[in-house]
Amino acid sequence: MGERRKRWMFAVFFIGCLASLAATVYFGTKAFYVEPVNSEENETYQTRVALVMEEAGNPYWEQIKEGAVEAGEEAGIYVETYGPSKANKNEQLETMNRMIESNVDAIITQGIDDPVFQELVQKALEKGVPVITVDSDVPESGRRAYIGTDNYEAGVLAGEELLQHTEGIQHVGIVSGSAETVNQQERVEGFRNTVEASGRVEIKDIGYSGISEIGAAQATYSLLKEEPDITALYGTSALDAVGIAQGIEEIEGAGDLYVIGFDTLPETVQLLEEGTIDATVRQHPVQMGEQAVYDVARLNQQKHVPAIQHTDTVIWRSSEAAREGGAEQ
Ligand code: BGC
Repeated sequence: MGERRKRWMFAVFFIGCLASLAATVYFGTKAFYVEPVNSEENETYQTRVALVMEEAGNPYWEQIKEGAVEAGEEAGIYVETYGPSKANKNEQLETMNRMIESNVDAIITQGIDDPVFQELVQKALEKGVPVITVDSDVPESGRRAYIGTDNYEAGVLAGEELLQHTEGIQHVGIVSGSAETVNQQERVEGFRNTVEASGRVEIKDIGYSGISEIGAAQATYSLLKEEPDITALYGTSALDAVGIAQGIEEIEGAGDLYVIGFDTLPETVQLLEEGTIDATVRQHPVQMGEQAVYDVARLNQQKHVPAIQHTDTVIWRSSEAAREGGAEQ
């Protein structure tokens, strides 16, 4: 074989080798490289947040949950929700502790006025887990932020409403969710300070509903039996107005009482539309849940999160409920 021919064959062989190497790399990559189908999901769930509610299944807390879960889907944050089936402070605190132990990235919960709550907030902080309060605040606990109603001011609003729409001496019965919950205490205090300053309103007594409708009905019944001269009733948690309406119905010959409640759950709005109750303080639970989760996202990005973010609170009267025809939260 001539020298030229040998070189020529070698060049062809060399080019062939190169081509087959290139083909192996190209097709091999195509065959074995797997696009991470769940890349979006992985991103979505890089952050895990626990929402610890006062009561699971309570329609008001369901709205906070709805806002939190929706915001979580948008911000790529996985929101787990927990809460006792019946409001129970100790269970709430135990759940919070479990969540800290289970290394969640943040906790959203109701501020609880209890030394154990403060200890847990500190414990969470030491692990780098921010606690954001919604619905009820305990600023001195060290929680990172609060999103919710200014509960004292909401009580003031309710008091002003009573003063504006009643005349002469009024005897008031209060139905409150709980004696222990901070927001309930603040709503009573704001109301009390406002109405008592008028000199024509006396608060006769307070009954407790345990944030349930039946509890509110029973508390109303007892209040009206024991204090028959009551002329107005004020309910401070979401299911109280509905219970108050039922309690009044149970009392034969109960006069036309002025009733003011809290929140705009469908049943309460219906009572407003029918004129069974006179007014309600409107809160924004969906927004509380949403905003709390967006704040977790902001904290993750090292962005500023204001310590206090009050959501709007206004009075809804019968006529407004009828006009707006329902409640967007
Ligand atoms: C309060 C919540 C409470 C709920 C009960 C709301 O008005 O803000 O703290 O859990 O009522 O139904």
